[in-house]
Amino acid sequence: MAFPQTRMRRLRASAALRGLVRETSLGADQLVLPLLVSESGPPRAPIEAMPGVERLSISEAAAEAAQAAALGIAGVLLFGIPSEKDAEGSGAFDDDGAVQLATRAIKQAAPELLVITDVCLCEYTDHGHCGVLREGPRGMTVENDATLELLARTAISHARAGADIVAPSDMMDGRVGAIRAHLDEEGHSDTPIMAYSAKFASAFYGPFREAAGSAPAFGDRRGYQMDPANRRQALREALLDEQEGADMLMVKPALAYGDLIREIKDQSRLPLAAYNVSGEYAMVKAAAAAGYIDERATVLEILTSLRRGGADILITYHAKEAAKWLSER
Ligand code: PBG
Repeated sequence: MAFPQTRMRRLRASAALRGLVRETSLGADQLVLPLLVSESGPPRAPIEAMPGVERLSISEAAAEAAQAAALGIAGVLLFGIPSEKDAEGSGAFDDDGAVQLATRAIKQAAPELLVITDVCLCEYTDHGHCGVLREGPRGMTVENDATLELLARTAISHARAGADIVAPSDMMDGRVGAIRAHLDEEGHSDTPIMAYSAKFASAFYGPFREAAGSAPAFGDRRGYQMDPANRRQALREALLDEQEGADMLMVKPALAYGDLIREIKDQSRLPLAAYNVSGEYAMVKAAAAAGYIDERATVLEILTSLRRGGADILITYHAKEAAKWLSER
């Protein structure tokens, strides 16, 4: 029945009524805070485009993680910034590398907090690409299959250090299957894989690459990361990762990719993460600093929308502030 019998506003009349019919929940236990851990440099180094985010030493990372745990945040996602880089990115699978040391320190400081480790080579290679290079018929390319070995070594090293979940972000073909097989062989069959399944070649990673010093020295990542124009291909990537043994899937970036969050959610039964990336954070912070938007309301609206879109897990640099705001309301 239509107006005047049907009046949609009836259920919006009070806060209690709105609460009763609210379809989507948002809690700190769905949030993951990314941390950039640096092998050298000052204990805390600010990142210009990302106010409130700093590059951290191992011990500061442990302190930050303990704070996140106290706020009820589910986990941290670790990125390492090595003091030396080489062609193979060997710092990625160094058992005493930044991610490995930080993992051990965080598991001590906050045992209940989930430590998720980013598995990729781009922060560790001197050329800034996500794998090993080979001269091909069309110039330098990232060699897929040789890179798989190094990614698997990295994941094993993270698991050995105590990582609760490993998260490959390189976009090589077959990496989930290769990492799963090698983890199992090494006795880490209980370590879940969160696959960056639909990861796009995105301009929204700019501030992160500045902070991690991981911008490619030549070319770009379009030879392995996805074309933002492709929807069907994103579904294929997600379903392939599921077949290869992924335990969770991810869409990245988040804000301009809500259609894919919904579609992947509908087509797979795996838990789904959305990564609200550095450039998305920078935009909100810049607009809020200029007084153009209300930061708290904007952030909670964004995170609620990602949940409504189908994300079970939200990876966001806003996690600490969001958790505080959620506990106040
Ligand atoms: C590594 C990686 C990147 C990000 C996460 N993992 C950089 C990239 O792919 O260039 C970006 C994260 C962010 O922007 O917040 N491959």
